[in-house]
Amino acid sequence: MSENRKKRILSGMRPTGKMHLGNYVGALENWVKLQNEYENLHLIADYHVLTTKLDTKEILTNTMEMLIDWLAVGIDPVKSPVFRQSKIKEHSELHLIFSMLVTTARLERNPTLKEQVKDLNIDSLIYGHLGYPVLQAADILIYKGEIVPVGEDQAPHVEITREIARKFNTTYDEVFPIPKTKLTNFARLPGLDRNKMSKSLGNTILISDNSEDIRKKMMKAITDPEKIRRNDPGRPEVCLVNTYHKKFNENKIEEINSGCKSGELGCVDCKKMCATAISEQLAPFTEKRQYYSDNRDEVMDILLDGEKRAAKIAKSTMEQVRKAMSLG
Ligand code: TRP
Repeated sequence: MSENRKKRILSGMRPTGKMHLGNYVGALENWVKLQNEYENLHLIADYHVLTTKLDTKEILTNTMEMLIDWLAVGIDPVKSPVFRQSKIKEHSELHLIFSMLVTTARLERNPTLKEQVKDLNIDSLIYGHLGYPVLQAADILIYKGEIVPVGEDQAPHVEITREIARKFNTTYDEVFPIPKTKLTNFARLPGLDRNKMSKSLGNTILISDNSEDIRKKMMKAITDPEKIRRNDPGRPEVCLVNTYHKKFNENKIEEINSGCKSGELGCVDCKKMCATAISEQLAPFTEKRQYYSDNRDEVMDILLDGEKRAAKIAKSTMEQVRKAMSLG
């Protein structure tokens, strides 16, 4: 291995359709930034999505919509292959082997699992929920991912991945790197109602929204509940719109805060400013988004090409795994 070899990043997301600002700020923006410094692989976790919805009819459409947004924001598929988990059979094979290397007690302690159970409002788990991080470990390690850029909620899964990698390496042979989490700076951008940004909660701004959509949505955002009249002094630290300003209006944040606190800046004007800043930052993506949206065959070709490249790596790792385990 040469000294200046680029480290490999494995990033992934479940295909949830059109991407929202939370996806952008929490993940995509970072993926694009890391593209040159690292060797990146971008996984579409279309098996993992079954843990939230068994109906599979929308998976392909959601995959395409998600991928169009990835491409629109600047993921370069020539540099960084994009591919579906379900198309690379080695994920399932490695998942099965890994399922022998981790205890159920360890998986039951996974805090993300507890959160998911709460979000889904279910009282009984399926086997796939428990095994979720084991499949994720296979996703990462089949490509020998060294760095995994994720939000805070996914860090426990990378921890389980590290444990599985160590267990494999000590039981059989040193096949896997021990991957590291790379937390995104802005790990979570809340939705317009302060809850987690999620399409099912109807509190999102989409990357594909136009400036009018954004303005309208922003008008509904929650501000400081005690700032009732325009000139009332506000508290930026409790205002949701302010959280968005911090990200999208970084340069003007002091001016905005002092205007809010003194009562000079009313919520409507503040929201308009915020909507404009968001629109301006999304504007460069519009043209590309339109292009790919009109040329879906090309998007499919990109995916197929990515899958070919990913499969090569996955096959080679699986051969090493089988050899290490004397499976012939
Ligand atoms: N669990 C991740 C999420 O919900 C998606 C995912 C699946 C993933 N496999 C991965 C992320 C591998 C990083 C690496 O966001």
